[in-house]
Amino acid sequence: GKTIRVALLGCGTVGSEVARLLTEQAGELAARAGAPVELAGIAVRRPDKHPELPQHLLTSDAAALVESDVDVVVELIGGIEPVQTWLLTALRKGKSVVTANKALLSEHSAELFEAADASGADLYFEAAVAGAIPLLRPLRESLAGDRITKVMGIVNGTTNFILSAMDSTGAGYAETLEEASRLGYAEADPTADVDGYDAAAKAAILASLAFHSRVTASDVHREGIAGVTASDIAAAKALGRTVKLLAICERVTADDGTESVSARVHPVMIPRSHPLAGVNGAFNAVFVEADAAGELMFYGQGAGGAPTASAVLGDLVAVARNLVVGGRGPRESAHAALPVRPMGQT
Ligand code: NDP
Ligand code: HSE
Repeated sequence: GKTIRVALLGCGTVGSEVARLLTEQAGELAARAGAPVELAGIAVRRPDKHPELPQHLLTSDAAALVESDVDVVVELIGGIEPVQTWLLTALRKGKSVVTANKALLSEHSAELFEAADASGADLYFEAAVAGAIPLLRPLRESLAGDRITKVMGIVNGTTNFILSAMDSTGAGYAETLEEASRLGYAEADPTADVDGYDAAAKAAILASLAFHSRVTASDVHREGIAGVTASDIAAAKALGRTVKLLAICERVTADDGTESVSARVHPVMIPRSHPLAGVNGAFNAVFVEADAAGELMFYGQGAGGAPTASAVLGDLVAVARNLVVGGRGPRESAHAALPVRPMGQT
């Protein structure tokens, strides 16, 4: 039978956990996928800094690894370029892609979806939003027959970790951010977290999938937590409230009946009795409202190496199963585009 050959691009916080699980659970993954899933190569920036990895698999040349004899590219580097070029190359050659790269997907999903649909390759990215929580597959598949009206929740672990610590122990902003970086929650450049760019990227991805639209990060009204002070938190507490950074994506109907999509990210004072108030540390939680389903709630670890790797491995098994049986994941490029509401209008 066939062996599924995997190129791993990036072996940092998330990639190293993916490599570990792929190796330790090789037997079980093969049984679930229907074929052995084998690491064919690992691209990192500095191979000499990775004595812990099998040396014969390591390379600094990600482009060559993508072009080599691999079936699937798992991208855990991050950022737009050069990653976008490598992933478009892979997809155009019919190689399926699994990625956690919300920055890239929130800007260039249209090109990536088109490349995937043109070649018949799969593009899965469950890990890009809300870490371990199965959320994108439900939006893309389980709820595909329903009409989603709202997606709202906590989608950034780092800022939730900081706000929770400020609320519970009165810990300072800077020291808590350092701890979030040490624990592997924060982005390489943590301003992406604290200034709300990461949550805005996730909101764009959620809104695009939920409303069959094309929302990019720049369409999302964005305000981070840099301006939230200890006295803001104390004032919220005195009112029986707490501060959370929320992503809110809505289907909006104008007076003339035309529909559009609105997405925003900003700190919100919520009552302590609200279910989102009990979501602490690097946990995330997302509510989805749909016409027939009503309200759904998704909760779990939103950041960190192992939780994120869980979502990556799930995608990898899905891709491998498709390769084994000749199937395909959901197509996205044919979506009718619901217009995006200009920023500032709510
Ligand atoms: P890290 O910074 O820990 O790891 C990045 C990896 O990419 C490193 O192994 C690095 O090599 C490698 N790399 C960087 N540039 C290149 C290059 N030009 N060629 C080859 N390899 C390169 O990042 P994370 O693991 O935290 O994040 C990876 C992705 O996952 C990002 O898109 C992030 O947004 C996303 N993500 C992260 C989560 C988390 O909790 N950390 C959660 C959800 C998504 P070297 O080791 O040599 O430096
Ligand atoms: N930096 C991100 C966060 C990682 O803190 O939520 C998970 O996407």
